[in-house]
Amino acid sequence: MRVITSAEEMRSACRALRGQGGGLGLVPTMGALHEGHLSLLRAARARCPAVAASLFVNPLQFGPGEDLARYPRDFEGDRRKFQAEGVELLFAPPVEEMYPAGSRTLVAVEGMSERLCGRSRPGHFRGVTTVVSKLFHIVEPGLAFFGQKDAAQAAILRRMARDLNFPVEIVVCPIVREPDGLAMSSRNAYLGPAERRSATVLYRALRRVQELAQGGERSAAALVAAGREVVTAEAGVRLDYLEVVDPDTLEPLAQTGRGALVAVAAFVGATRLIDNIVLPPSPAGG
Ligand code: PAF
Repeated sequence: MRVITSAEEMRSACRALRGQGGGLGLVPTMGALHEGHLSLLRAARARCPAVAASLFVNPLQFGPGEDLARYPRDFEGDRRKFQAEGVELLFAPPVEEMYPAGSRTLVAVEGMSERLCGRSRPGHFRGVTTVVSKLFHIVEPGLAFFGQKDAAQAAILRRMARDLNFPVEIVVCPIVREPDGLAMSSRNAYLGPAERRSATVLYRALRRVQELAQGGERSAAALVAAGREVVTAEAGVRLDYLEVVDPDTLEPLAQTGRGALVAVAAFVGATRLIDNIVLPPSPAGG
């Protein structure tokens, strides 16, 4: 595996790799790899003759007062994991390489970027779409792999790729969970033992919503109320949002019959966690 820090060098290495035939898969990451990331790398390996990954803690997607400075970083441990998963090219640029002095261009998916996490983290999705569009230009992947845990991010990136004519297929891989249901996240490392136990409340709330939906409840308001009740009953946990939205547009839904994304974000102590489930369309729709 070649580790590359320069955008120009990465661009020519990707071109050379593509020249050997077949598509190039890209797995963008911010490092601190866990099983969720490994599942993306394995999906890329299974579908693409060659795999590139990026490791870049993107300052543009963190707001003031967020965890940019203390975001978990373990370059050597991550490098070994990328290598073990068969990544050919690892792009790990310094911040000045991605955002040279004088950079002024931002990419935003208007309307969607302000929904869900975008409401409580202004500028977050604009930071994501800006860095991912730069990665798409540098790597020119045929397929790019993202996790369903960041369902809003995946929907926004799919729209960005479509709107900006990126010739890339956005592949979204299932959430990987701990045995007790907690969705894997690099931020789980922040949790103390008691917080770690409380953190399962996000999935418990989603399961409650799922049970009600499977029982025939289609009113988004009723589902949201039931999910919120579970979260607010957990001491030390502060709900940011629990919403029922259209999985493609992220617009709030009143009814779930045509399928819905149920997304939750909550602070467990000082750590903000997110999770979601998808409710399939019901046979009668509506
Ligand atoms: O999902 C992430 O880890 C990040 O948002 C991404 C896509 C690597 C962009 O920095």
